Amino acid sequence: MNFNGIDFDTYFKHYPDDKGYFGKYGGAYIAPELKAAMEEITDAYFTICKSSKFVSELRRIRREFQGRPTPVSYLERLSGKLGNVQLYVKREDLNHSGAHKLNHCMGEALLAKFMGKKKVIAETGAGQHGVALATAAAYFGLECDIYMGSVDIKKQAPNVARMKILGANVVEVTHGLQTLKEAVDAAFDAYSKEYKDAIYCIGSVLGPHPFPMMVRDFQSVVGIEAREQFMGMTGELPDAVVACVGGGSNAMGMFAGFLNDPVALYGVEPLGKGPTLGDHAASLKYGTEGIMHGFNSIMLKDENGDPAPVYSVASGLDYPSSGPEHAFLHDLGRVTYDVIDDEETIDAFFTLSRLEGIIPAIESAHAVAYGMKLAKQMGKGSILINLSGRGDKDMDYVIEKYGIR
Ligand SMILES: Cc1ncc(COP(=O)(O)O)c(C=O)c1O
Repeated sequence: MNFNGIDFDTYFKHYPDDKGYFGKYGGAYIAPELKAAMEEITDAYFTICKSSKFVSELRRIRREFQGRPTPVSYLERLSGKLGNVQLYVKREDLNHSGAHKLNHCMGEALLAKFMGKKKVIAETGAGQHGVALATAAAYFGLECDIYMGSVDIKKQAPNVARMKILGANVVEVTHGLQTLKEAVDAAFDAYSKEYKDAIYCIGSVLGPHPFPMMVRDFQSVVGIEAREQFMGMTGELPDAVVACVGGGSNAMGMFAGFLNDPVALYGVEPLGKGPTLGDHAASLKYGTEGIMHGFNSIMLKDENGDPAPVYSVASGLDYPSSGPEHAFLHDLGRVTYDVIDDEETIDAFFTLSRLEGIIPAIESAHAVAYGMKLAKQMGKGSILINLSGRGDKDMDYVIEKYGIR
């Protein structure tokens, strides 16, 4: 399929290019001493991609350890309530450890093992990436340091306990807003001192090349499975596909299965308390081009041009930028990026729980809320939503802050 001059039949061969660019976005803006480390990771990644041993080992792990493929479920009661649109969810909440994050963590940890590294380092916001990486580290026998802001440590206490039980070292980040951006800063700092023995397993399609490409490729299993399952269930493609966007890994994984199809794609960013800078984290909607954490993308800036403070009820979405491939697809118009606020999210959290018996992660509830809104606008057709994770981690926080609705 050709879309605005881009041939999506061959898209994955050309994007990113060999320097890690998706159009003008991406690249590797890093300290000179890390250049060699990034090249080592890129070379190792391209070697293992072509190795049938690695590919079959990852397939075995996905089947026997992660419980893949995760199902697609038809939301019969919710669809009935909304009219004539049929809603479906891809159940990444049923992926082992409760979210899509394990898809790239098992790949990254397998890569670490192949490279002879002893340790994995990462940041986490909602704690899902931290739990997933701690799970992968336990599975492969690697040391694991997870950097997490103090605010998120309090908010996502169940996931902090899970990481510790799994043997990870949770390092509290106490500077700045004490959320996801500061956790990434701290994890990058640690990695720049330990890169000889460790690998930075970034938690989304972010960071310098090759991470946005690698994480997308590992996550594309979500979209590839979902496309086949949806076709098997309905005999056709969905009219629309919806996913929430923090850094953008669950969305990129899902969209990868449908980029070359005549399917409308929607990425949902957090509007938080409203459109005032500082009250949301909708970087693609309100941001401008800028470089942070080693990549060029679209970001929210303060008056000095630095990353702006951001907020969302979802700890996994409050990041002032998004992956460079999303910035590219945004400018191209292939994906529509829109927003959902905290209130709409909490409503969707309870609606999905009550009508379908599925408690979504607050991050995923953004996508559910948007799917519900879109269903009313569309009037007929079908929507496939990526349910990126389960809401166990959020239950105490939601009940304390919002009560039972
Ligand atoms: C369940 C869930 N969904 C979505 C996200 C957002 O990340 P991404 O945009 O990389 O999928 C997170 C981040 O922690 C998460 O835990």
